[in-house]
Amino acid sequence: MTLSDAVFTRSSCRDYSPQPLSPAQRQQLEKAVGTCNLRSGLHVQLVCGDPEPFSSLLKSWGRIAGARNYFLLAGPAGAPDLEEKCGFYGEELVLTARSMGLGTCWVGGTYDKKRCAARLAPEEELVCIIAVGSPAHPDRPAADRSRKSLEELAPDAQDAPEWFRAGMEAVRRAPSAMNRHGYRFACRPDGSVRVRLSGTGSFALVDLGIAKRHFELGAHGGEWTWGDGGVFRKSREEKSCGAVIWRQNGSSREYLLVRHNGGHWSFPKGHVEGSETEAETAAREILEETSLTAEIHTDFRQQVTYSPKPGTIKDVIFFTAVPTGGREHPQESEISQLGWFSFPQAAERITYATDEEVLLAAEAYLNEN
Ligand SMILES: Cc1cc2nc3c(=O)[nH]c(=O)nc-3n(C[C@H](O)[C@H](O)[C@H](O)COP(=O)(O)O)c2cc1C
Repeated sequence: MTLSDAVFTRSSCRDYSPQPLSPAQRQQLEKAVGTCNLRSGLHVQLVCGDPEPFSSLLKSWGRIAGARNYFLLAGPAGAPDLEEKCGFYGEELVLTARSMGLGTCWVGGTYDKKRCAARLAPEEELVCIIAVGSPAHPDRPAADRSRKSLEELAPDAQDAPEWFRAGMEAVRRAPSAMNRHGYRFACRPDGSVRVRLSGTGSFALVDLGIAKRHFELGAHGGEWTWGDGGVFRKSREEKSCGAVIWRQNGSSREYLLVRHNGGHWSFPKGHVEGSETEAETAAREILEETSLTAEIHTDFRQQVTYSPKPGTIKDVIFFTAVPTGGREHPQESEISQLGWFSFPQAAERITYATDEEVLLAAEAYLNEN
């Protein structure tokens, strides 16, 4: 499930199963937290096995039953845009967790703040927390929540382009404190978008950050400036294809990972050229980057979307593949190292949580087929 899919299937989970997060789930969430801290300058922590912040609350409203894990959203006290960044990057974690089948709930008021604040350095400020864990009732359909209409959230959207409307559909599904959605979006004559707060109240700026992240996902990529009145510019779209390459070594399965010259470990992949099909691109890139010929299996198809540089959004399609010839050798202009790894080694080595999710999906798929 991509983060964009997660936007449309997420809802707040208020009842968690006692089952602890598995080591693999913790590892994947820690990776997502690491990426988010690196990009944002925040100090988000994943805290596991600590029910205390949720347990002092006796009243039923706002009670988050059975929660024992949470993301603690904090950053340098007084930093500009601290609350908005917690909203923006915290929602990234919410959607990542959702894409892993986990439940989440933003919690700004109904928890014991003192217990969480004890985990911070003196110069850090706690903004809020997000409960995360396995839902107690995973098959229960999401509550059918009343939502503000497109016209309420973007009063002048009649002639707006399709991507703007898609962005607003994602905003309509954004969580917000007290379900307020206290912002208004407008498409401007130069093709950019502006959002302004339409009210005040606690967590208004956290809500704004969440809404900006949802809009960006719905509109399929773009860059926001921070703050009330922030402006969005749509990104240029790129597409790459690659594959999770595997082989059987005795009784165990091994995966081929490449270390890109930028330093991160991932799978072989590259840009679609001319009129190539997705599978042709994947096969060509594997050959170029690893010197291996490979048979591509398109029954498995997973998409990852990210922004490789400001102003660009990239979709990467991954298939599975098995080598059919050649000897692995890295393409020096792009790849510094490559190697075969067992599933747990590969999961640990992969740099980005989104790529790790592709590996987990491939492993599950190969086990079943
Ligand atoms: C910043 C923020 C703070 C929130 N604080 C609380 C809270 O203290 N207690 C609570 O029960 N829910 C809290 N929520 C959850 C909202 O009530 C919930 O997201 C909203 O009702 C929309 O429902 P949905 O997430 O299912 O779409 C908070 C949500 C946000 C975004």
